Amino acid sequence: MQKLTARASWKALEAHFEQIKDVHMRDMFEQDSERFKKFSAQMDDILLDFSKNRINDETFKLLCDLARDTGVQERRDHMFSGEPINISEFRPVLHTALRNRSNTPVYVDGENVMPKINRVLAQIRYFSERVRGGHLRGYSGHLITDVVNIGIGGSDLGPHVVCDSMKPYAQRGMNVHFVSNVDPTHLTEILKFVKPEATLFVISSKTFSTQETILNAKSARDWFIRLTANEKAVARHFVAVTSNKKAAAEFGILEENMFEFWDWVGGRYSLWSAIGLPIALYLGMDHFEEMLEGAHAMDLHFKEAPIEKNIPIVLAMLGVWYNNFFDAQSHAVMAYNQYLRRLPAYLQQLDMESNGKTIDREGKRVDYLTGPIIWGETGSNCQHAFFQLLHQGTKPVPADFLIPARSKNPLGNQHCVLLSNYFAQTRALMKGKTEAEARAELEYSGHSEEVIKDVLPHKIFEGNKPTNSILFENLDPRTLGALLAMYEHKVFVQGVVWNINSFDQWGVEYGKQLATDIQRELSSREEAINYDDSTNNLINYCMSLKFTD
Ligand code: F6P
Repeated sequence: MQKLTARASWKALEAHFEQIKDVHMRDMFEQDSERFKKFSAQMDDILLDFSKNRINDETFKLLCDLARDTGVQERRDHMFSGEPINISEFRPVLHTALRNRSNTPVYVDGENVMPKINRVLAQIRYFSERVRGGHLRGYSGHLITDVVNIGIGGSDLGPHVVCDSMKPYAQRGMNVHFVSNVDPTHLTEILKFVKPEATLFVISSKTFSTQETILNAKSARDWFIRLTANEKAVARHFVAVTSNKKAAAEFGILEENMFEFWDWVGGRYSLWSAIGLPIALYLGMDHFEEMLEGAHAMDLHFKEAPIEKNIPIVLAMLGVWYNNFFDAQSHAVMAYNQYLRRLPAYLQQLDMESNGKTIDREGKRVDYLTGPIIWGETGSNCQHAFFQLLHQGTKPVPADFLIPARSKNPLGNQHCVLLSNYFAQTRALMKGKTEAEARAELEYSGHSEEVIKDVLPHKIFEGNKPTNSILFENLDPRTLGALLAMYEHKVFVQGVVWNINSFDQWGVEYGKQLATDIQRELSSREEAINYDDSTNNLINYCMSLKFTD
């Protein structure tokens, strides 16, 4: 494969960057009344307006050329058809099959995987409906009112963002909690508010060997037995979502309470699989399936829409433009919707675990920037926290702004105010405020020339800060599914352009290995001498403080 930076399509963008880097979006809008028409795309009710970006017709053409040239469409087709594109783990990447609502065959090693996907979906429906309908109760006959999901990474963040975002669809009287951190405080604080006889624990772990999850699961089981004095009842209150049935059985989970998924589902892409069990329990299977439908609709859009109108591809290529040509180090996501408050955390894993790579698919070190730092906060909170840096800081921060047109909780004119802030911010970031405009404002306020001279530089806003506006009708399960799939595909496209494997996570595995070694040493409570001077002294100081186990 030709090196990315040696490609003609890359070099054309480099040359073009030199021409456009100082052009202001304010001027581009003034000179071209068609920007919105040219630089927007739609899928169902989801509108992407990308006209407030530092691009003109030529930039957009060159970015689309780069997508074509790096084989985005070919690799996309390889992913959907089950080719082993995860080259360091020798696996296909088939989260799209999990939401393949058209049920067309998808083959892995000659086997159509749709029947087993449908079987697990039916199992989730049967189980979740029995729990929600009060037919499957706790050991003492009590209704199940609380679901505690124990999992980490993809076995937590996906179902967590969905359950949080879809609260208005939850069954009254049903609560869901997420325990992920090995810090015992996480589990302890949740167990304070649940009753063992009314609680269902879902142990979510693809491998069933992740240290944090297994320790939390064991502690939850100990708590359950301590309070109920009924070890047999564990089988009724603990279920597992895993591809390691043997380990789940050893933990004490009944075969009928195991929900399977497969090694071709990556952790951070797994919320569409049985990892979505807490979603079905909390929101109902119909809503879970609506979410799958929405994601499937986005999959079809990604497969079929031309590059220029293909939302995930456009978002990805704009990201490449800022990451690699403007050297933007990060990308922010601002959801103007309180229900989406966990979206940045979910996207951090999706994007940074996928594209935080330095080695390309040929095993060589890349000579260009790969995945950005993802961060964000809900609007309008973000405006009162870090927007100062966006408006007047020295660092370029491209950002996505998301909002539904309709609120689930209308209250006076508050949603209208939220919308106004949303529109005002992206406009201000694009336009800025010129010296003349700032001066006119100060003069209008009656300030003396002397004051104006001192204050004026502080009141100028450079503008030219790029944003994508993503606007949709309602935040419902279908739209949420489509939005999450949109981001999955954006990350995928960027991985293709950067020629990296977006589907492994060896850096995370390394962390697991390191902690295991140190834990052995810590537990022995003997003086640390085997590490570097800093680590030895930190451990020994911690020991002098008599740390808790
Ligand atoms: O965070 C690293 C990771 O490997 C993720 O990819 C995965 O989602 C998470 O750990 C949890 O793994 P498991 O589901 O096997 O417990």
